[in-house]
Amino acid sequence: MAAMESNNNGRRSIINHGVDTSSTITIKGILSLLMQNVDDKRSFISLGMGDPSAHSCFTTTHVAPHAVSHALQSSTFNGYAPTSGLPQTRRAIAEYLSRDLPYKLSIDDVFVTSGCTQAIDVALAMLARPGANILLPRPGFPIYELSASFRHIEVRYFDLLPEKGWVVDLDAVEALADQDTVAMVVINPGNPCGNVYSYQHLKEIAEAANRLKILVIADEVYGHLTFGGKPFVPMGVFGSTVPVLTLGSISKRWIVPGWRLGWFVTTDPCGMFKNHKVLLYLSCECFLELIICLFV
Ligand SMILES: Cc1ncc(COP(=O)(O)O)c(C=O)c1O
Repeated sequence: MAAMESNNNGRRSIINHGVDTSSTITIKGILSLLMQNVDDKRSFISLGMGDPSAHSCFTTTHVAPHAVSHALQSSTFNGYAPTSGLPQTRRAIAEYLSRDLPYKLSIDDVFVTSGCTQAIDVALAMLARPGANILLPRPGFPIYELSASFRHIEVRYFDLLPEKGWVVDLDAVEALADQDTVAMVVINPGNPCGNVYSYQHLKEIAEAANRLKILVIADEVYGHLTFGGKPFVPMGVFGSTVPVLTLGSISKRWIVPGWRLGWFVTTDPCGMFKNHKVLLYLSCECFLELIICLFV
């Protein structure tokens, strides 16, 4: 893990112990290295822009800043919130997500996080155990690899197939999984490929995960941001086939990534988490303990 150490100039530097830094370099890190080495004033078009608020044509709904301002001025929320989030926030998220599901989520299914990034980290921290591996899409979102590396979870990649609209190579998933595989990650709508999966493809993913006895981490941070006629179908629709951990945030759809509000939701209408091999990690108490560990 990272530690401060002195070198022979007496300067202190950060040393990583036990973390494979070659696999933990992020896109933002590379971009910042590049920008530091650009010495002329040419203008650049960034193709890696994930912040919708950077463009003035995209703004959030005007009711949102009013509501936040009202909440701040009321002084009602100046105290510590419960670790899993304010009940009214959890209820609002449960109601919002339930609109697209064939069943109703309860407040107990929802945990509020600091953006989707923390939801990813919480999900991987909960699944970590000696020898565990996780299946990630390639191309994918690098935070998963970074977080898995810090949790000592082995990463195995399955390809997304460009010639078929970046669908998941399910044969590869079946070949990669073994008894130590804890989950597969599905990013839909997808970053970086922009894929929007059909109901049928998500159903096939759910059935494959069910056969393999792994759960699905559904990253839906881009939920509802689709182009053309393709509807967004949440993975939680198949929660009766396979337990789904749905991760999301208000960053993209509401164009406020700086507000850092996300969620980690168990979409599991049949209570399969209760019988699943990761059961022990998924009790509410464990979640609270985990959050406390992450913050101290
Ligand atoms: C696929 C994916 N998941 C998660 C995140 C992180 O979302 P947040 O800004 O809410 O932490 C991003 C941000 O770009 C993303 O592209």
